[in-house]
Amino acid sequence: MDYSAVFGNRATSYLGASERYPAIREQEIARFVDLLCLKPGETFLDIPCGNGLVSERIAPTVRYLGLDPAATFVDHCRNRNKPVVQASMRCTGLPSGSVDVIGSLTGIHHEADRLTLYAEWFRLLRPGGRLVIADVACGGEVDRFLNEFVNEWNSEGHDGNFLCEQDVQLVKQSGFANVLFSQLNHDWQAPTEIEMYDFMLALFGLDKQPSLAATQEAWRHLGWSKDREVCRLPWSLSVISAQKPEVATFE
Ligand SMILES: C[S@@+](CC[C@H](N)C(=O)[O-])C[C@H]1O[C@@H](n2cnc3c(N)ncnc32)[C@H](O)[C@@H]1O
Repeated sequence: MDYSAVFGNRATSYLGASERYPAIREQEIARFVDLLCLKPGETFLDIPCGNGLVSERIAPTVRYLGLDPAATFVDHCRNRNKPVVQASMRCTGLPSGSVDVIGSLTGIHHEADRLTLYAEWFRLLRPGGRLVIADVACGGEVDRFLNEFVNEWNSEGHDGNFLCEQDVQLVKQSGFANVLFSQLNHDWQAPTEIEMYDFMLALFGLDKQPSLAATQEAWRHLGWSKDREVCRLPWSLSVISAQKPEVATFE
């Protein structure tokens, strides 16, 4: 499936969800930004940046650049004065060694050829530069939610190729050192379940309109909980962090 076309079609609905409910992914974004350990003066590439939510958590002393293949997301960021380029993630056209840190949040699971992706990101980083990839863990509950529930209720389906041990090997094969695999545990949080449901219908493009009850049944497997103030959905991701060696041997 050509996911460039899918994201092109879905982008408006995805943007609407993020605009209406900016707080739902707050914990995820904050924890991801903590992992980046950005220092003043560093250049940070957010790839793919989507609607640029991560940029809102980055200190102004860091030079932020977003990249996304989809025009709708890029236009959205430009209209909000976020520095962004429209390009393929595996063929960015950016100069070699021009970036200190690359961060990728839930954006690689529709990329089949990961070796060329990681090789391009290796090229972009300066020696000593850092890479942090956070995406859905292969075989976990979020994988099942997306590839089963979303797949059933989005008329274009969902077939994610999620983060797994093979990605660790491919990152190493691309020349990276200090490659570590870890977990990013956080919740998506909404004031009510209706808001969480509405967010998901738009974010995931669930045009076949699952009922709230069917959606809650899928949430149950994720460990959904609610009290009077908050509807909480555990949404753990896997993380690969790595560093380009100071003396590069793979260029
Ligand atoms: C789930 S969003 C994540 C965006 C952002 N990192 C965030 O966390 O909000 C996925 C993004 O990946 C981009 N993307 C990923 N794989 C793609 C592919 N194969 N073709 C086109 N765009 C892709 C989409 O344009 C979209 O912006």
